Amino acid sequence: MKKIDITTNINGIRLYSCIMNASGALCSTEKELSNLLKSSSGAIVTKSCTDKPRKGNIKPRYFEWDIGSINSMGLPNLGIDFYINFLDGITTNKPIFLSISGLSLEENYLLIQKANSSTKINAIEINLSCPNILKKKEILGYEFDTVYNFLKNVFRLNNKKHIGIKLPPYFNDNDIRNMAFIINKFPISFITCINSLPNGLFINSIKESTVIYPNKGFGGIGGTIIKSFALANIFKFSSFLRKDISIIGCGGISSGIDIFDHILCGASAVQVGTQFIKEGISVFDRLKNELILFLKKKKYYSINNFIGNLNKN
Ligand code: SIN
Repeated sequence: MKKIDITTNINGIRLYSCIMNASGALCSTEKELSNLLKSSSGAIVTKSCTDKPRKGNIKPRYFEWDIGSINSMGLPNLGIDFYINFLDGITTNKPIFLSISGLSLEENYLLIQKANSSTKINAIEINLSCPNILKKKEILGYEFDTVYNFLKNVFRLNNKKHIGIKLPPYFNDNDIRNMAFIINKFPISFITCINSLPNGLFINSIKESTVIYPNKGFGGIGGTIIKSFALANIFKFSSFLRKDISIIGCGGISSGIDIFDHILCGASAVQVGTQFIKEGISVFDRLKNELILFLKKKKYYSINNFIGNLNKN
């Protein structure tokens, strides 16, 4: 019986499994990161960090139901120095993605420079899509000119790490085309799409109230309910982006078939958020087994056999 190969390659970064955690899901503290190290995830992604530690928004700020989740976390994190110190002290063969989300463009430049000094970090995932910083009016990923100027400055820095960006969901062709046009101008290694759908609302009908407190109950929606938007963004970006830019799919993964679908639409790897929070660290073993089983049925022996092969009827 031929072995099924679920290893992958994100622009030269080798992962022994194409399944990893999404930034924000159980990856903020030393304990959570240590659990990820021991798990079968193919890489480690940290919580999006800022320069200084942050407590984040008031609680309750996360809620999940059968097909989705809503959050307005507000970037609670231990600060970049903690993440760099922790990561530089570990031994692992898993690639490490440091997620950063500066509160200003200048803070992002500083975070990138600090990350460049780390010996262990393989890639920086710049979060251009956090929907929950209450003082900010816009999500950076929707400000096209600002993103262009920001990336121009990022690639003037002396970068020693792979640089990727995490994008918000886009809902029309032109936005995806325009963002891809901008991205294609820079030596970006990967994009991660999508972050949660911003400005969602979930309510408790009995209590007649919102389920989370910050931002009047509005927050980013994740989980099964957003899978179709993730697939659409992955599929469209894969047709507009330079072929050397990898796509990491994120959004609505709770089964091996969901992973297959993301890869079929053009993702080289996937991130799991809501389902990881729901199920805990064993989710990586279950998803890996389900994916392998499904590939066996399809007679695929490597994810390279079907990446981006969705039939366009
Ligand atoms: C948060 O901490 O508010 C979530 C971060 C994100 O969705 O990018």
